[in-house]
Amino acid sequence: MLEQLAPPAEDPILSLTVAYRQDERDDKLDLGIGVYRTADGHTPVMAAVREAAIAIAAQQDSKSYVGLAGNEAFNQAMITLLLTDTSALARTAAIQTPGASGALRMLGELIAYARPGATVWLSRPSYVNHQPVMEACGLEVREYPYFDPATKQVDEPSMLAAIAKLGPNDVLLLHGCCHNPTGADISWNSWQKIAAMAQQQGFLPFVDLAYQGFGDGLDADAAGLRLLADTLPEVLVAVSCSKNFGLYRERTGAALIIGETLEHAQRAKGHMQRIARATYTMPPDHGAAIVAHILADTQLQQSWLTELNAMQQRIVRLREQLAGAFREASGSERFHYFQHHRGMFSVTGLTPEQTAALRDQHGVYVVGGGRVNVAGLSENRIDKLVSAFLAVGA
Ligand SMILES: Cc1ncc(COP(=O)(O)O)c(C=O)c1O
Repeated sequence: MLEQLAPPAEDPILSLTVAYRQDERDDKLDLGIGVYRTADGHTPVMAAVREAAIAIAAQQDSKSYVGLAGNEAFNQAMITLLLTDTSALARTAAIQTPGASGALRMLGELIAYARPGATVWLSRPSYVNHQPVMEACGLEVREYPYFDPATKQVDEPSMLAAIAKLGPNDVLLLHGCCHNPTGADISWNSWQKIAAMAQQQGFLPFVDLAYQGFGDGLDADAAGLRLLADTLPEVLVAVSCSKNFGLYRERTGAALIIGETLEHAQRAKGHMQRIARATYTMPPDHGAAIVAHILADTQLQQSWLTELNAMQQRIVRLREQLAGAFREASGSERFHYFQHHRGMFSVTGLTPEQTAALRDQHGVYVVGGGRVNVAGLSENRIDKLVSAFLAVGA
């Protein structure tokens, strides 16, 4: 059987990490995979996470199964964190999932079950895994215009014109904040228009929130989602704790179902548990136990928030410094977008040839399409990045 298999296509981002590790140059620079790094290039365990992990290790007296929906204290804490001050708090159910990746898959499966034949609309471009996951659920995938490569901003008129044509058979996948890969986020005005259109036209918003706290702060980053949640009968949400709790490898996330009533949401949750049972049965416990522990403890929650805010502010500062260094070195404003974008990433529009030259001639690793992980940059490597970019003709 196995000899018939063709070699699998490589994952474009994970294969970059392998190539980077094999590169022996001392001054190489990894701006590929989406992880936050400190000024000395380290992805830290957050202080609150370490403290919670120690407390859990000391207190836990069993490793018995938790349940199909995972840790219910975590699920409730996620609902509160995301939907504070909205009417949706009282009509939302959640299951813990293996990362937001698991949430995307479970929610995709729920859509395929509840509304066979639905079309899922993705921004052009979108997170590299959105299309494969939705297609693996048997859903049709189409794209709406999103990013304008000339301005490096959201092309809001084209986006809104496409959304204006959606109907009850359509699911609109939106990035809650810190759009991956572009870094260009939807304006408040557009969130309002999308909410009004969803109400009138009956399409289902599906919000992927993988970077809450990395853009403009915890509440600001959830504002678009909260508007939809407050005003619409149904919204689906995939959430990740990989970045804002630094729990990448613990695979910690949640799928939220906001229903017209709590009964609807809970019924959907029951189906998600059934789908999870036939997939991985139940999620790993450790990361969710840590998050639940932190969010139930005022002092740990404050410690987490302080550290998260410091990370967010450092990303903003890195963006300003990068834009400033480009302005000085290029004598132009054409890299100003680094300052305007939010979150970890910016799409630079480098050609495949320029991306290859960056890697081969300068040891700078960025994702195809020129996505740069600004949050992976150190202050003392900014000049290297700028000169490499200009040298390849960016
Ligand atoms: C938009 C988006 N959604 C989901 C994910 C998956 O996150 P997780 O590590 O929680 O599976 C990512 C990770 O890069 C992402 O950027």
